[in-house]
Amino acid sequence: MKKRQASALYTFGDLQNWREVTRKVQPSVRLGVFGDPVAHSLSPKIQNAALQHHKIDMQYATFQIAPDELADGLRFARELDFVGLNLTVPHKIVALDRVDGVDLTARKIGAINTVALREGKLLGFNTDAVAFSRAIREEFAVDLRDLRVMVLGAGGAARAIATQCGMEGCERLVIANRTLEKANQLVEQLREYFVGPRVLGPVARLQAITWEESAFRFQIANIDLVVNATPVGLNRTDPSPIPARLLAPHLMIYDTVYAHGRTPFVTAGLEAGARAANGLSMLLHQGALSFQTWFGREAPVDVMRQAL
Ligand code: ATR
Repeated sequence: MKKRQASALYTFGDLQNWREVTRKVQPSVRLGVFGDPVAHSLSPKIQNAALQHHKIDMQYATFQIAPDELADGLRFARELDFVGLNLTVPHKIVALDRVDGVDLTARKIGAINTVALREGKLLGFNTDAVAFSRAIREEFAVDLRDLRVMVLGAGGAARAIATQCGMEGCERLVIANRTLEKANQLVEQLREYFVGPRVLGPVARLQAITWEESAFRFQIANIDLVVNATPVGLNRTDPSPIPARLLAPHLMIYDTVYAHGRTPFVTAGLEAGARAANGLSMLLHQGALSFQTWFGREAPVDVMRQAL
């Protein structure tokens, strides 16, 4: 049959009526990303490039799925014989309880961004964590274990990043969140990684802080890498999560957001004289690791990178 591209954006309603909606789509859509918002996602670009490279006869599409549609959306994916899914904001944490099984590391992180369908079961994985580590090495030529890191956010993406920092034994980890309670909870879960003998003077090695200018200002001198793991910056009109005047030239700035190229946080970082990168590198590596999870073979990372 003639190739017919999948639509740019499907909805929950489309899933309910899937066979009819995709009657003319060839090859069939058997992978996708669920999110809200999700229209900006570049996952289809990299995944479809990988599928074509390996001559796997299926397509990857974008699905606008609201929080109250997630459980049924996953059920449809199973019934429609999908191979796998990616999950993004705001589904990564809730989805943990909506799948049939969760990989050990993902369970530890408390969030999943990848679902694989195996023998009719939905299995959850987290590829954000390792992808973050690879992205930081690629962008700044440093290892997490040598860094003092501040993570902005305590949601799904932040949990993966903070846990990876803990597992790699980073020098210091500070978690800032609008809802302090969630940052406190995350800190408690990571305590086991920070009991070692390293001494850093007067500042705590592991700490939750409030989302406030004074708290940011106090921390910056004792931080090397600041990571935005909130969705702030997804909208073109968003401010930088931390204003440029609070940043400093010694910092590395990493924004998990990649919408519109130079994000507000990246712009603020550069304005402050710091090195800064957006989330394309993390997107690429989490996608490559997801591909590997679904198909059990090496992802064509360079092909995927070129697709970006
Ligand atoms: P994801 O899966 O992408 O991590 P999430 O689990 O919904 O998405 O988490 C979003 C994170 O961004 C949370 O830490 C949230 O803070 P709260 O815990 O206080 O909700 C944070 N966040 C979202 N919008 C924000 C904003 N406008 N300013 C600051 N933090 C924000």
